[in-house]
Amino acid sequence: MLNTGPMAQINPSILSADFARLAEEARAVDGADWLHVDVMDNHFVPNLTLGLPVVESLHKATDTPLDCHLMIEAPDRWAPQYAEAGAGSVTFHVEAAAAPIRLAREIRAQGARASMALRPATPIEPYEDLLPELDMLLVMTVEPGFGGQAFLDIMLPKIRRTRQLIDRHGLQMWLQVDGGVSAETIERCAEAGADVFVAGSAVYNADDPAAAVAALRRQAEEAAARA
Ligand code: DX5
Ligand code: ZN
Repeated sequence: MLNTGPMAQINPSILSADFARLAEEARAVDGADWLHVDVMDNHFVPNLTLGLPVVESLHKATDTPLDCHLMIEAPDRWAPQYAEAGAGSVTFHVEAAAAPIRLAREIRAQGARASMALRPATPIEPYEDLLPELDMLLVMTVEPGFGGQAFLDIMLPKIRRTRQLIDRHGLQMWLQVDGGVSAETIERCAEAGADVFVAGSAVYNADDPAAAVAALRRQAEEAAARA
């Protein structure tokens, strides 16, 4: 295994948490690898969530590192500021970025992991040469904008092809999936080669969110070991 981290990382998405109690909701997923923070600007996606001040406050309120997923226009302008605000990983969408290589370098220069996201209709192949500039690639498994949507099975071939590209280049980067990841779908994602799993409703709608995180991680690791 090339990865230095654990084989399967589970990142609960606070989009499905209670926004008035974010510090408690962060504690409710004790054992999570990262907290996934969905930033939406009502332009790149038809929904509006939170921004820099909330990320700054949440960073002070939890020891769990923040995985900020920016679903916004003009990430070239905003993404480095999320690293400055304390995010340990910053994901921008390639469809919105004017200069993804410069942007990834700026995020890394701020000390965060640089990550690039692909909407479901965006192919990975045109970006093969960019992979060494990135610490993680996010393959969206729903159209971004809302939690609780159905997992898009038709993304599994893209996950598989992305894993092959990463391995062919001998890279240590992580491959994240986000959208509709649950006990029903996580094994397919892990078998296809994903190793970082965002789960919103599957974690926060569970009676015991921390137990849901542990169960998802076990399922993913067992599926990856079988693959
Ligand atoms: C959707 C967001 C996801 C969302 C996932 O655009 O990027 O992170 O919270 O929610 P679930 O896991 O419920 O599909
Ligand atoms: Zn997300």
